[in-house]
Amino acid sequence: MPSSVPSVAVVGGGVIGLTVAWTLARRGHRVTVYDPVPARGASWAAAGMLSPAGEAWFGEESLLRLGLASLDRWPATAHDLEADAGWGPELRSEGTLLVAATDDDAGTQARLHALMASAGITHRLLSRREARALEPALHPGMHSVTEVLSDHSVNNRTLVAALLAACARRAVAFVEDTADVMTDTGTATGVRTRRAGRHRRHEVVVVANGVGLADTAGVPGWLRTAVRPVKGEILRVRTDRPALQRTVRADVRGRAVYLVPRADGEVVVGATSVERGYDTAVTAEAVHDLLHDATEVVPELRDATFVEATAGLRPAAPDHVPLVGWTGVDGLLVASGHHRGGILLAPWTADVVAALVAGDEPPAGWDTTDPRRFTGPAGAGLADLQETR
Ligand code: GLY
Repeated sequence: MPSSVPSVAVVGGGVIGLTVAWTLARRGHRVTVYDPVPARGASWAAAGMLSPAGEAWFGEESLLRLGLASLDRWPATAHDLEADAGWGPELRSEGTLLVAATDDDAGTQARLHALMASAGITHRLLSRREARALEPALHPGMHSVTEVLSDHSVNNRTLVAALLAACARRAVAFVEDTADVMTDTGTATGVRTRRAGRHRRHEVVVVANGVGLADTAGVPGWLRTAVRPVKGEILRVRTDRPALQRTVRADVRGRAVYLVPRADGEVVVGATSVERGYDTAVTAEAVHDLLHDATEVVPELRDATFVEATAGLRPAAPDHVPLVGWTGVDGLLVASGHHRGGILLAPWTADVVAALVAGDEPPAGWDTTDPRRFTGPAGAGLADLQETR
């Protein structure tokens, strides 16, 4: 029974699924989120950086533009979330420091500075005194420190908790079960829950379950093979008073480490990038390397209390650009493949999905995320192997 406001199933209750669900509900849709454990997974493990400049990489200029577009949306998103949930995601706007420990590290960063400049991102090399004035805990022997005022952060755990509350306020329904997609002659007709075995009809299904996409029946095979898991091991430590006021991203003898401070003294230290399938073990080597590099940059963290080591699986597309859009199956949208930028890209992704569901023109850049870019012969070949469920 088609209506002008379709009923939408969102498969996946991480930051992308929850932001999509909340956005659609605010625009008047009936929305149900399917996830066995919402607000956990990669969104829980993450650091919460809104850092398109700091995470920019050569050859990923279109991703950088999407990141900047989503960053622009964050102040309004944080405001609206606070209005609906009663608390916000602890958006911090002090900026980010890019630290190079050695001369070689500074060389790598200089090339990234050129990339930032080409995207119109302002950055400023600080004198030692300026760097120490901003962040007295920084090791005075760091080779160089660059300030990027436009890169921010949120507390990802406060964020997903706020999204859950905001969804509840907007009458989003939750089904704590894994869902597969039901199709009938090339059209998505709803979902089937795995544990309870229930069939639920929806006019639109949005698959937003990160690396779970590969295991979701009813999704075209070429799409299921388009994301791969990239493990990020990440630590949390705590000091009595905040050691840092702003995010620090450092290159330490060729290895990258970031430190994202919270107002309560917690510092998130991340993260590895490991391609070893669906393994979520935290290795001793990862803990060692992250702590080694973090304490080289901020020595007083040696006295911090160790709180937690965890790992999340980033869903990565071959080109590291997210997969957001229609899938070629009527009524079936995907929003996955956000790799390192799930938190950053959530507001932009939700706006694209909401526009596509409504039949409106999506925000600029959406054509670059069209998942159908992977339906070529290579993808089709893999699809034949994988289309079994
Ligand atoms: N955006 C941080 C990470 O993926 O580690």
